[in-house]
Amino acid sequence: MCVIQTKNLTKEFKGFKAVDNLNLTIPNGEISGFLGPNGSGKTTTIRMLLGLAEKTSGDIKLFNKSLKTHKSEILSNVGALVDSPSFYEHLSGFENLKIMQLVHNCDDTKIQEVLSIVELTEAANKKVKDYSLGMKQRLGIAIALMNDPKLLILDEPTNGLDPNGIKKMRELLIMLSQRKRISIVVSSHNLFEIENMCNYVCLINKGTLLYQGELKSLLNKYAQHNVFFNTSDNTTAKNILKDYNTNIRGDKLNVNTQLSEIPKINKILVTNNMDVFEITHEKTSLEDIFLKLTEKKEPKKNV
Ligand SMILES: Nc1ncnc2c1ncn2[C@@H]1O[C@H](COP(=O)(O)OP(=O)(O)OP(=O)(O)O)[C@@H](O)[C@H]1O
Ligand SMILES: [Mg+2]
Repeated sequence: MCVIQTKNLTKEFKGFKAVDNLNLTIPNGEISGFLGPNGSGKTTTIRMLLGLAEKTSGDIKLFNKSLKTHKSEILSNVGALVDSPSFYEHLSGFENLKIMQLVHNCDDTKIQEVLSIVELTEAANKKVKDYSLGMKQRLGIAIALMNDPKLLILDEPTNGLDPNGIKKMRELLIMLSQRKRISIVVSSHNLFEIENMCNYVCLINKGTLLYQGELKSLLNKYAQHNVFFNTSDNTTAKNILKDYNTNIRGDKLNVNTQLSEIPKINKILVTNNMDVFEITHEKTSLEDIFLKLTEKKEPKKNV
């Protein structure tokens, strides 16, 4: 079952197509990544999914129902974090949630529950203006959780966070998905920030869909990595690995390959009496994957 489905979703700004015939199919019950570089149309798409922006054309279905005809019913089951969340900065986290509790007319106990989920119980009485960015993002999620959503749509929730903040956000989303069974869509321009939490990804570029499906298949197919071997004799190692794409970089032998090849390469080197002191690797960037996908879609013209 799909939690979100769009058909030929299009948004034009004065003739410029920010979102161009987008056919998204996002599965229920998972954390899905919505990926694209800056300006690719993620926020514009999300704003349309949430009924915050009018679409130019196309259809949107959430929970298998048309957003056009079932808007309030659908949105009462969706929690969202779009753009920078706006809070009453001079009030505490608790007081901000109190306002939301009155808006949604939900139980008093809900506030403590969501504070505990996002680990803000201790900071509940601190003014929001004194919160760190990570705390503000988590308060945004707490607010989104107030109405017990079945679906959370989060626009770049890790943007600007440090590695620890990113890890905390990842753990929080995994917990919400597994324990609360909430379907989650997370947008990001950084694949590797969200790769450890999403099984399913949709990649867009210039408003059009480049790929949607299992993240694993995408990485297997397109992610080449620069693997660095520090060996006792890199020139000999290079000759031994003649079937691979290699070159010597400084005091290391660089092999452009898939990560699954590392043990095999290591074995080849060791059985050929090479000492391997260190193996490191640098990942393909999302940009590289985009480049490959775009090249595939638009075959080079002969000039
Ligand atoms: N209100 C608007 N009026 C005109 N153009 C807009 C408007 N909103 C967005 N755009 C344009 O639409 C395109 C997509 O923007 P959008 O904000 O959806 O991208 P994004 O993928 O969210 O980017 P980022 O990663 O930077 O947040 C951009 O070229 C942007 O300039
Ligand atoms: Mg955006």
